[in-house]
Amino acid sequence: MNRALAYAEQHFDRFVGELVDVLRIPSISTDPEYAGEVRRTATWLADHFKALGFPKVEISETPGHPIVFAEYAVDPSKPTVLVYGHYDVQPADPLDLWKTPPFEPTVVDGVLYGRGTCDDKGQFFAHMKAAEAYLRTDGTLPVNLKVMLEGEEECGSTNLAPWIEANRERLACDIVVVSDTTLFGPGIPSITYGLRGLAYVEVSLTGPDRDLHSGVYGGAVENPINALAKMIAALHDENHRVTVEGFYDNVRPLTAKEREGFAALPFDTKAWAGEVGVSVTKTEKGYSALEGTTARPTLDCNGIWGGYTGKGAKTVLPSKATAKISMRLVPDQTPHEVTEKLRRYFEAHVPPTMTLDFKDLHGGHGVLVDTESPAMEAASEALEGVYGRRPYFIRSGGSIPVVADFKNILGRDTILMGFGLDSDSIHSPNECFGLDRFGEGIRSVIRFLDVYGRSAR
Ligand code: BES
Ligand code: MN
Ligand code: MN
Repeated sequence: MNRALAYAEQHFDRFVGELVDVLRIPSISTDPEYAGEVRRTATWLADHFKALGFPKVEISETPGHPIVFAEYAVDPSKPTVLVYGHYDVQPADPLDLWKTPPFEPTVVDGVLYGRGTCDDKGQFFAHMKAAEAYLRTDGTLPVNLKVMLEGEEECGSTNLAPWIEANRERLACDIVVVSDTTLFGPGIPSITYGLRGLAYVEVSLTGPDRDLHSGVYGGAVENPINALAKMIAALHDENHRVTVEGFYDNVRPLTAKEREGFAALPFDTKAWAGEVGVSVTKTEKGYSALEGTTARPTLDCNGIWGGYTGKGAKTVLPSKATAKISMRLVPDQTPHEVTEKLRRYFEAHVPPTMTLDFKDLHGGHGVLVDTESPAMEAASEALEGVYGRRPYFIRSGGSIPVVADFKNILGRDTILMGFGLDSDSIHSPNECFGLDRFGEGIRSVIRFLDVYGRSAR
């Protein structure tokens, strides 16, 4: 392990250069125009695994973007680690808000800026470089290693679960490791043991069969925007709880121990609010902001439109209003169950003068991972070795739906060992990843593989 650590330090600048090369390829999965770039990224990664000496490397086709799968088996008596990451990225817009071009990665004061730096190329690349460090020093790995890199995470992973199902044997492992989450703060070692799930819908109300003059018809024809806004406003009560009937039915309550854990985390609610430009936080009554953003279910309108939204004033009474609504879920809510409950809410409140269109867009299950497993202990030891103190166990408010699939299809837990920060602006302009954290990630993985490799299967 020490030789691998020394190698990683010695070759760090080259690692950064290689990361920059793959970041230059705009692998935007949601936009069909970029399909060629997504594939070029898959090819780049497959070639990189081959150059590292992985004996099995494949670009595996799906009905959508391909999955890169690489395998390095060393010894059947050693544990097998499956690393998952995603090589696709979010679109870069709004482009004019970027201070450096999104696909021309640039280092400013030790921080690498560019789309995908943190989410997720910079993070999974740390695993590839940790493997290289072992292979170029010891000539072998401390564990059997499998890596699968997906190209459709940012657009719903529609082809992923069937692929995992079909490749169940090939993916057999003792533990899954994912670096696609955040640290609690800079220099604060953290392991994420909970992720929220997601249910995403689009709702439309249609009234008159065309936009009308708001002077001629306003007063006798009901306005779909007014009606939809009212329905959305009524989705929360005065305690900021979601009013959808049965919404909280299957919510697994926080344990007293978990709440103590949350309270012990070094979290300054006011400073946190200030960072996003709000003066105070607003959370479901009875819960802290930290609990509200990670361990409680929520409902948010993501976008709303209809009528006239161009320059100046145009007096219309719109024919139609549409909103996109997401719900972040916690165990044991299921996306289907809450989506149906929300559908019933809209159906029950749609005005008799209007028709409703309710579309289920996509979803994923939340997860909670056992914090007392041997793999968690190995991860804790690894992070302690890098950061000099035991990690915090944290829950994250984001969603990585594949983690529930790994549990349900492969029967395996996932260690969420991420090195991002909330301030890395993932999905936003000026996404970034501190090079210090790229290094911490590589060293943490090197240490994890060593400790876990020595643990009994
Ligand atoms: N890496 C993120 C999820 C994440 C972010 C987890 C921060 C923990 C902390 C992932 O790439 C992502 O963006 N997930 C989407 C869901 C997906 C189904 C589109 C999300 O959370 O909105
Ligand atoms: Mn991600
Ligand atoms: Mn993302």
